Amino acid sequence: MARLLITGGAGFIGTHSCIVLIEQGYDLVIIDSFVNSSPISLQRVKEITKLTKKESIERLQVIHGDIRNQKTLEKVFSDAIREGRRIDAVIHFAGLKSVNESLQNPISYWQVNVNGTSCLLSTMHEYNCRNLIFSSSATLYGQPKSIPIPETATIQPINPYGNTKAAVEKMLSDISKMDAEWHIACLRYFNPIGAHPSGLIGEDPKETPNNLFPIISQVASGSRKVLRIYGNDWPTIDGTCIRDYIHVMDLARGHSAALNSLLKKEHKHLTLNLGTGEGYSVLEVVNSFEKATGKSIPYEIIGRRKGDTAISVADPSKALKTLKWKTSKSLFESCKDSWNWQSSNPNGFRS
Ligand code: NAD
Ligand code: UFG
Repeated sequence: MARLLITGGAGFIGTHSCIVLIEQGYDLVIIDSFVNSSPISLQRVKEITKLTKKESIERLQVIHGDIRNQKTLEKVFSDAIREGRRIDAVIHFAGLKSVNESLQNPISYWQVNVNGTSCLLSTMHEYNCRNLIFSSSATLYGQPKSIPIPETATIQPINPYGNTKAAVEKMLSDISKMDAEWHIACLRYFNPIGAHPSGLIGEDPKETPNNLFPIISQVASGSRKVLRIYGNDWPTIDGTCIRDYIHVMDLARGHSAALNSLLKKEHKHLTLNLGTGEGYSVLEVVNSFEKATGKSIPYEIIGRRKGDTAISVADPSKALKTLKWKTSKSLFESCKDSWNWQSSNPNGFRS
Protein backbone atom coordinates (compact mmCIF):
# COMPACT_ATOMS: atom_id res chain seq x y z
CA MET A 1 0.00 0.00 0.00
CA ALA A 2 1.16 3.54 -0.69
CA ARG A 3 3.06 5.54 1.94
CA LEU A 4 2.06 9.14 2.50
CA LEU A 5 3.67 12.16 4.09
CA ILE A 6 1.05 14.17 5.96
CA THR A 7 2.20 17.66 6.88
CA GLY A 8 0.18 19.19 9.72
CA GLY A 9 -1.28 15.75 10.41
CA ALA A 10 -1.79 16.48 14.14
CA GLY A 11 -4.23 19.33 13.42
CA PHE A 12 -8.01 19.42 13.15
CA ILE A 13 -8.48 18.30 9.53
CA GLY A 14 -5.23 16.31 9.50
CA THR A 15 -6.16 13.95 12.36
CA HIS A 16 -9.60 13.20 10.93
CA SER A 17 -8.06 12.54 7.51
CA CYS A 18 -5.40 10.27 9.06
CA ILE A 19 -8.17 8.05 10.43
CA VAL A 20 -9.80 7.60 7.03
CA LEU A 21 -6.43 7.01 5.36
CA ILE A 22 -5.28 4.44 7.94
CA GLU A 23 -8.63 2.67 7.64
CA GLN A 24 -8.07 2.54 3.86
CA GLY A 25 -4.71 0.84 4.42
CA TYR A 26 -2.29 3.72 3.77
CA ASP A 27 0.91 3.99 5.83
CA LEU A 28 1.55 7.49 7.14
CA VAL A 29 4.48 9.66 8.10
CA ILE A 30 3.31 12.80 9.90
CA ILE A 31 5.37 15.94 10.19
CA ASP A 32 4.05 18.61 12.53
CA SER A 33 5.59 21.42 14.56
CA PHE A 34 2.64 21.25 17.02
CA VAL A 35 2.41 25.03 16.85
CA ASN A 36 -1.38 24.67 16.79
CA SER A 37 -1.86 21.08 17.93
CA SER A 38 -0.82 18.46 20.44
CA PRO A 39 0.91 15.09 19.97
CA ILE A 40 -1.91 13.64 22.08
CA SER A 41 -4.22 14.04 19.07
CA LEU A 42 -2.14 11.41 17.25
CA GLN A 43 -2.30 9.05 20.26
CA ARG A 44 -6.06 9.35 19.94
CA VAL A 45 -5.83 8.56 16.21
CA LYS A 46 -4.01 5.33 17.15
CA GLU A 47 -6.75 4.56 19.68
CA ILE A 48 -9.57 5.15 17.19
CA THR A 49 -7.92 3.09 14.44
CA LYS A 50 -6.98 0.37 16.96
CA LEU A 51 -3.39 0.21 15.76
CA THR A 52 -1.26 -2.12 17.87
CA LYS A 53 2.10 -0.84 19.10
CA LYS A 54 3.86 -2.70 16.31
CA GLU A 55 1.43 -1.42 13.67
CA SER A 56 1.81 2.14 14.98
CA ILE A 57 5.55 1.99 14.47
CA GLU A 58 5.11 0.78 10.91
CA ARG A 59 2.01 2.70 9.88
CA LEU A 60 1.97 5.98 11.81
CA GLN A 61 5.38 7.54 12.15
CA VAL A 62 5.39 10.95 13.83
CA ILE A 63 8.11 13.53 13.26
CA HIS A 64 8.24 16.74 15.28
CA GLY A 65 9.50 19.23 12.71
CA ASP A 66 8.86 22.39 10.75
CA ILE A 67 8.09 22.38 7.03
CA ARG A 68 10.27 25.47 6.62
CA ASN A 69 13.30 23.42 7.56
CA GLN A 70 14.50 21.92 4.29
CA LYS A 71 17.05 19.65 6.03
CA THR A 72 14.30 18.09 8.15
CA LEU A 73 12.19 17.48 5.05
CA GLU A 74 15.11 16.02 3.13
CA LYS A 75 15.81 13.63 6.01
CA VAL A 76 12.18 12.46 5.97
CA PHE A 77 12.38 11.61 2.26
CA SER A 78 15.89 10.12 2.35
CA ASP A 79 15.18 8.00 5.46
CA ALA A 80 12.08 6.66 3.73
CA ILE A 81 14.11 5.65 0.66
CA ARG A 82 16.82 4.07 2.83
CA GLU A 83 14.16 1.97 4.59
CA GLY A 84 12.88 0.87 1.17
CA ARG A 85 9.54 2.55 1.84
CA ARG A 86 9.58 5.66 -0.29
CA ILE A 87 6.93 8.34 0.02
CA ASP A 88 4.41 8.08 -2.80
CA ALA A 89 2.35 11.19 -2.12
CA VAL A 90 2.06 14.17 0.20
CA ILE A 91 -1.07 15.64 1.76
CA HIS A 92 -0.13 19.14 2.78
CA PHE A 93 -2.25 20.45 5.66
CA ALA A 94 0.48 22.32 7.57
CA GLY A 95 -0.12 26.03 7.69
CA LEU A 96 -1.44 28.96 9.66
CA LYS A 97 -5.15 29.52 9.24
CA SER A 98 -6.47 32.50 11.18
CA VAL A 99 -7.71 35.37 9.05
CA ASN A 100 -7.43 37.77 11.99
CA GLU A 101 -3.92 36.74 12.91
CA SER A 102 -2.85 37.04 9.26
CA LEU A 103 -3.87 40.71 9.33
CA GLN A 104 -1.71 41.27 12.44
CA ASN A 105 1.25 39.22 11.27
CA PRO A 106 1.31 38.78 7.49
CA ILE A 107 5.03 37.97 7.45
CA SER A 108 4.53 34.75 9.46
CA TYR A 109 1.70 33.77 7.15
CA TRP A 110 3.83 34.21 4.02
CA GLN A 111 6.76 32.45 5.71
CA VAL A 112 4.81 29.38 6.78
CA ASN A 113 2.15 29.07 4.11
CA VAL A 114 4.19 30.09 1.08
CA ASN A 115 7.88 29.59 1.96
CA GLY A 116 7.05 26.40 3.88
CA THR A 117 5.17 25.05 0.86
CA SER A 118 8.00 26.03 -1.44
CA CYS A 119 10.47 24.09 0.77
CA LEU A 120 8.18 21.09 0.64
CA LEU A 121 7.80 21.27 -3.15
CA SER A 122 11.50 21.56 -3.82
CA THR A 123 12.17 18.55 -1.55
CA MET A 124 9.45 16.55 -3.32
CA HIS A 125 11.01 17.51 -6.64
CA GLU A 126 14.47 16.45 -5.45
CA TYR A 127 13.21 13.06 -4.23
CA ASN A 128 10.99 12.49 -7.26
CA CYS A 129 7.72 12.49 -5.34
CA ARG A 130 5.17 14.08 -7.67
CA ASN A 131 1.76 13.53 -6.06
CA LEU A 132 0.36 16.28 -3.89
CA ILE A 133 -2.89 17.29 -2.25
CA PHE A 134 -2.96 20.87 -1.03
CA SER A 135 -5.33 22.36 1.59
CA SER A 136 -6.76 25.39 -0.11
CA SER A 137 -9.70 27.45 1.04
CA ALA A 138 -12.96 29.07 0.01
CA THR A 139 -11.46 32.26 1.42
CA LEU A 140 -9.90 32.60 -2.06
CA TYR A 141 -13.26 33.69 -3.45
CA GLY A 142 -13.37 36.81 -1.26
CA GLN A 143 -16.74 38.47 -1.88
CA PRO A 144 -18.19 36.10 -4.51
CA LYS A 145 -20.34 37.57 -7.28
CA SER A 146 -22.78 34.67 -7.45
CA ILE A 147 -23.92 31.75 -5.29
CA PRO A 148 -23.29 28.81 -5.34
CA ILE A 149 -19.61 29.38 -6.07
CA PRO A 150 -18.05 27.27 -8.85
CA GLU A 151 -14.29 26.66 -9.05
CA THR A 152 -14.21 29.02 -12.05
CA ALA A 153 -15.26 32.00 -9.90
CA THR A 154 -12.81 34.90 -9.70
CA ILE A 155 -10.00 34.47 -7.17
CA GLN A 156 -9.96 37.69 -5.17
CA PRO A 157 -8.88 37.11 -1.58
CA ILE A 158 -9.38 39.99 0.82
CA ASN A 159 -6.88 39.14 3.56
CA PRO A 160 -3.23 38.02 3.84
CA TYR A 161 -4.26 34.44 4.72
CA GLY A 162 -6.27 34.21 1.47
CA ASN A 163 -3.40 35.81 -0.47
CA THR A 164 -1.03 33.07 0.72
CA LYS A 165 -3.46 30.34 -0.41
CA ALA A 166 -3.84 32.03 -3.80
CA ALA A 167 -0.04 32.31 -4.13
CA VAL A 168 0.42 28.59 -3.45
CA GLU A 169 -2.31 27.67 -5.96
CA LYS A 170 -0.44 29.79 -8.57
CA MET A 171 2.86 28.13 -7.69
CA LEU A 172 1.24 24.69 -8.10
CA SER A 173 -0.28 25.65 -11.42
CA ASP A 174 3.16 26.74 -12.69
CA ILE A 175 4.68 23.45 -11.51
CA SER A 176 2.00 21.41 -13.30
CA LYS A 177 2.69 23.30 -16.52
CA MET A 178 6.44 22.83 -16.15
CA ASP A 179 6.48 19.08 -15.42
CA ALA A 180 3.84 16.66 -16.69
CA GLU A 181 4.87 14.08 -14.08
CA TRP A 182 3.14 15.97 -11.27
CA HIS A 183 -0.36 15.05 -10.10
CA ILE A 184 -1.81 17.80 -7.93
CA ALA A 185 -5.16 18.45 -6.28
CA CYS A 186 -6.01 21.81 -4.72
CA LEU A 187 -8.97 21.24 -2.42
CA ARG A 188 -10.85 24.38 -1.51
CA TYR A 189 -12.58 23.73 1.81
CA PHE A 190 -15.67 25.65 2.82
CA ASN A 191 -16.37 25.78 6.60
CA PRO A 192 -15.13 22.60 8.31
CA ILE A 193 -16.95 21.72 11.55
CA GLY A 194 -17.91 18.66 13.62
CA ALA A 195 -15.63 16.04 15.07
CA HIS A 196 -15.02 12.29 14.95
CA PRO A 197 -18.16 10.57 16.34
CA SER A 198 -16.04 8.87 19.05
CA GLY A 199 -15.54 12.26 20.72
CA LEU A 200 -11.83 11.45 21.03
CA ILE A 201 -10.59 14.07 18.56
CA GLY A 202 -11.88 17.43 17.44
CA GLU A 203 -10.95 21.05 16.93
CA ASP A 204 -8.70 22.35 19.71
CA PRO A 205 -7.43 25.84 18.89
CA LYS A 206 -4.46 26.88 21.03
CA GLU A 207 -5.30 30.58 20.86
CA THR A 208 -8.66 32.25 21.57
CA PRO A 209 -10.89 31.03 18.74
CA ASN A 210 -12.54 33.36 16.20
CA ASN A 211 -14.55 30.75 14.32
CA LEU A 212 -18.22 30.16 14.97
CA PHE A 213 -18.18 26.50 16.08
CA PRO A 214 -15.45 26.63 18.73
CA ILE A 215 -17.16 29.75 20.10
CA ILE A 216 -20.67 28.21 20.17
CA SER A 217 -19.18 25.16 21.92
CA GLN A 218 -17.60 27.40 24.55
CA VAL A 219 -20.93 29.15 25.14
CA ALA A 220 -22.66 25.77 25.49
CA SER A 221 -20.06 24.61 28.01
CA GLY A 222 -20.36 27.82 30.03
CA SER A 223 -16.75 28.93 29.53
CA ARG A 224 -18.06 31.88 27.49
CA LYS A 225 -21.23 33.75 28.45
CA VAL A 226 -22.70 34.73 25.11
CA LEU A 227 -22.26 34.31 21.36
CA ARG A 228 -21.78 37.64 19.62
CA ILE A 229 -23.35 37.48 16.17
CA TYR A 230 -21.72 39.79 13.66
CA GLY A 231 -24.68 41.64 12.17
CA ASN A 232 -28.31 40.88 11.36
CA ASP A 233 -28.54 43.35 8.50
CA TRP A 234 -27.02 41.17 5.76
CA PRO A 235 -29.07 40.45 2.62
CA THR A 236 -30.04 36.92 3.78
CA ILE A 237 -33.21 35.20 5.03
CA ASP A 238 -32.78 36.37 8.63
CA GLY A 239 -30.08 39.01 8.22
CA THR A 240 -27.22 36.85 9.53
CA CYS A 241 -24.43 35.52 7.29
CA ILE A 242 -24.78 32.23 5.47
CA ARG A 243 -22.01 29.63 5.20
CA ASP A 244 -21.52 26.13 3.84
CA TYR A 245 -20.62 24.03 6.91
CA ILE A 246 -18.99 20.70 6.08
CA HIS A 247 -18.49 17.88 8.60
CA VAL A 248 -14.78 17.19 9.01
CA MET A 249 -15.29 13.45 8.38
CA ASP A 250 -16.89 14.23 5.00
CA LEU A 251 -13.92 16.48 4.31
CA ALA A 252 -11.55 13.68 5.31
CA ARG A 253 -13.24 11.33 2.86
CA GLY A 254 -12.85 14.00 0.19
CA HIS A 255 -9.08 13.73 0.68
CA SER A 256 -9.01 9.98 0.32
CA ALA A 257 -11.18 10.21 -2.83
CA ALA A 258 -8.82 12.81 -4.33
CA LEU A 259 -5.76 10.79 -3.34
CA ASN A 260 -7.07 7.53 -4.82
CA SER A 261 -7.75 9.38 -8.06
CA LEU A 262 -4.29 11.04 -8.18
CA LEU A 263 -2.54 7.74 -7.49
CA LYS A 264 -4.44 6.18 -10.40
CA LYS A 265 -3.08 9.10 -12.45
CA GLU A 266 -6.60 10.10 -13.48
CA HIS A 267 -5.87 13.83 -13.22
CA LYS A 268 -2.80 15.99 -13.62
CA HIS A 269 -4.16 19.09 -11.91
CA LEU A 270 -7.46 19.14 -10.09
CA THR A 271 -9.03 22.12 -8.37
CA LEU A 272 -12.12 21.23 -6.37
CA ASN A 273 -14.53 22.82 -3.96
CA LEU A 274 -15.20 20.64 -0.92
CA GLY A 275 -18.51 21.77 0.50
CA THR A 276 -22.07 20.55 0.92
CA GLY A 277 -23.75 22.95 -1.51
CA GLU A 278 -26.14 24.00 1.27
CA GLY A 279 -25.97 27.21 3.23
CA TYR A 280 -27.11 27.96 6.79
CA SER A 281 -27.37 31.31 8.52
CA VAL A 282 -25.74 31.92 11.90
CA LEU A 283 -29.18 31.88 13.54
CA GLU A 284 -30.02 28.56 11.86
CA VAL A 285 -26.74 27.15 13.19
CA VAL A 286 -27.60 28.33 16.71
CA ASN A 287 -31.01 26.73 16.42
CA SER A 288 -29.62 23.44 15.13
CA PHE A 289 -26.93 23.38 17.84
CA GLU A 290 -29.55 23.92 20.55
CA LYS A 291 -31.74 21.12 19.18
CA ALA A 292 -28.82 18.69 18.75
CA THR A 293 -27.37 19.27 22.21
CA GLY A 294 -30.23 20.39 24.41
CA LYS A 295 -28.05 23.36 25.42
CA SER A 296 -29.18 26.93 25.27
CA ILE A 297 -26.97 29.36 23.34
CA PRO A 298 -27.53 32.91 24.52
CA TYR A 299 -26.54 35.40 21.84
CA GLU A 300 -26.45 39.09 21.13
CA ILE A 301 -26.29 40.86 17.80
CA ILE A 302 -23.36 43.22 17.37
CA GLY A 303 -21.97 45.07 14.35
CA ARG A 304 -20.63 43.38 11.23
CA ARG A 305 -17.12 41.87 11.37
CA LYS A 306 -14.63 43.39 8.96
CA GLY A 307 -13.93 41.10 6.02
CA ASP A 308 -17.12 38.99 6.32
CA THR A 309 -19.18 38.24 3.23
CA ALA A 310 -22.98 37.76 3.28
CA ILE A 311 -23.11 34.31 1.69
CA SER A 312 -20.52 31.66 0.91
CA VAL A 313 -21.86 28.37 -0.43
CA ALA A 314 -20.01 25.87 -2.64
CA ASP A 315 -21.05 24.49 -5.95
CA PRO A 316 -19.71 20.98 -5.18
CA SER A 317 -20.81 19.42 -8.51
CA LYS A 318 -17.27 19.13 -9.92
CA ALA A 319 -16.14 17.00 -6.97
CA LEU A 320 -19.18 14.76 -7.47
CA LYS A 321 -18.46 14.40 -11.17
CA THR A 322 -14.70 13.86 -10.94
CA LEU A 323 -14.39 11.91 -7.67
CA LYS A 324 -17.93 10.63 -7.10
CA TRP A 325 -17.60 12.31 -3.71
CA LYS A 326 -20.34 14.13 -1.88
CA THR A 327 -21.08 14.92 1.71
CA SER A 328 -23.33 12.68 3.78
CA LYS A 329 -23.50 14.32 7.21
CA SER A 330 -26.06 16.95 8.18
CA LEU A 331 -25.62 20.16 10.13
CA PHE A 332 -27.49 18.47 13.01
CA GLU A 333 -24.94 15.60 13.12
CA SER A 334 -22.08 18.09 12.95
CA CYS A 335 -23.50 19.98 15.94
CA LYS A 336 -23.93 16.74 17.89
CA ASP A 337 -20.38 15.60 17.13
CA SER A 338 -18.86 19.02 17.90
CA TRP A 339 -20.60 19.02 21.27
CA ASN A 340 -19.69 15.39 22.01
CA TRP A 341 -16.02 16.32 21.51
CA GLN A 342 -16.24 19.57 23.48
CA SER A 343 -18.23 18.16 26.41
CA SER A 344 -15.98 15.10 26.80
CA ASN A 345 -12.79 17.19 26.47
CA PRO A 346 -13.53 20.60 28.04
CA ASN A 347 -9.82 21.46 27.93
CA GLY A 348 -9.22 19.91 24.54
CA PHE A 349 -6.14 17.70 24.47
CA ARG A 350 -4.81 19.42 27.59
CA SER A 351 -7.12 17.55 29.93
P1 NAD B 1 -4.82 23.21 12.28
O1 NAD B 1 -4.13 24.42 12.78
O2 NAD B 1 -5.64 22.41 13.24
O3 NAD B 1 -3.76 22.21 11.61
C1 NAD B 1 -2.59 22.68 10.98
C2 NAD B 1 -1.43 21.87 11.51
O4 NAD B 1 -0.23 22.35 10.91
C3 NAD B 1 -1.26 22.02 13.02
O5 NAD B 1 -1.12 20.75 13.60
C4 NAD B 1 0.01 22.85 13.17
O6 NAD B 1 0.70 22.54 14.35
C5 NAD B 1 0.77 22.45 11.91
N1 NAD B 1 1.74 23.45 11.46
C6 NAD B 1 1.55 24.78 11.35
N2 NAD B 1 2.69 25.37 10.91
C7 NAD B 1 3.58 24.37 10.72
C8 NAD B 1 4.93 24.33 10.26
N3 NAD B 1 5.59 25.45 9.93
N4 NAD B 1 5.56 23.13 10.17
C9 NAD B 1 4.91 22.00 10.52
N5 NAD B 1 3.65 21.98 10.98
C10 NAD B 1 2.99 23.14 11.07
O7 NAD B 1 -5.69 23.64 11.02
P2 NAD B 1 -6.75 22.81 10.18
O8 NAD B 1 -8.08 23.41 10.43
O9 NAD B 1 -6.55 21.36 10.37
O10 NAD B 1 -6.32 23.26 8.72
C11 NAD B 1 -5.47 22.46 7.91
C12 NAD B 1 -5.24 23.18 6.60
O11 NAD B 1 -6.48 23.47 5.98
C13 NAD B 1 -4.53 24.52 6.75
O12 NAD B 1 -3.61 24.66 5.70
C14 NAD B 1 -5.65 25.53 6.61
O13 NAD B 1 -5.20 26.76 6.08
C15 NAD B 1 -6.59 24.83 5.63
N6 NAD B 1 -7.99 25.25 5.76
C16 NAD B 1 -8.60 25.21 6.98
C17 NAD B 1 -9.91 25.66 7.11
C18 NAD B 1 -10.61 25.65 8.44
O14 NAD B 1 -11.55 26.44 8.61
N7 NAD B 1 -10.22 24.82 9.38
C19 NAD B 1 -10.60 26.13 5.98
C20 NAD B 1 -9.95 26.14 4.76
C21 NAD B 1 -8.63 25.70 4.66
N1 UFG C 1 -19.63 34.48 13.46
C1 UFG C 1 -20.34 35.17 14.43
N2 UFG C 1 -19.81 35.26 15.69
C2 UFG C 1 -18.62 34.70 16.02
C3 UFG C 1 -17.90 33.98 15.03
C4 UFG C 1 -18.43 33.89 13.76
O1 UFG C 1 -21.40 35.71 14.16
O2 UFG C 1 -18.19 34.83 17.17
C5 UFG C 1 -20.19 34.37 12.11
C6 UFG C 1 -19.32 35.05 11.07
O3 UFG C 1 -19.69 36.40 10.94
C7 UFG C 1 -19.66 34.21 9.82
C8 UFG C 1 -19.97 32.83 10.36
O4 UFG C 1 -20.21 33.00 11.76
O5 UFG C 1 -20.84 34.70 9.27
C9 UFG C 1 -18.81 31.88 10.19
O6 UFG C 1 -17.64 32.50 10.68
P1 UFG C 1 -16.25 31.72 10.86
O7 UFG C 1 -15.29 32.69 11.45
O8 UFG C 1 -16.47 30.44 11.58
O9 UFG C 1 -15.88 31.33 9.37
P2 UFG C 1 -15.61 32.23 8.09
O10 UFG C 1 -16.66 31.89 7.08
O11 UFG C 1 -15.44 33.65 8.42
O12 UFG C 1 -14.19 31.69 7.62
C10 UFG C 1 -13.79 30.34 7.78
C11 UFG C 1 -12.32 30.30 8.12
C12 UFG C 1 -11.52 30.74 6.94
C13 UFG C 1 -11.89 29.91 5.76
C14 UFG C 1 -13.35 30.01 5.49
C15 UFG C 1 -13.75 29.14 4.34
O13 UFG C 1 -12.05 31.14 9.24
O14 UFG C 1 -10.16 30.56 7.22
O15 UFG C 1 -14.08 29.63 6.64
O16 UFG C 1 -13.27 27.88 4.51
F1 UFG C 1 -11.20 30.32 4.69
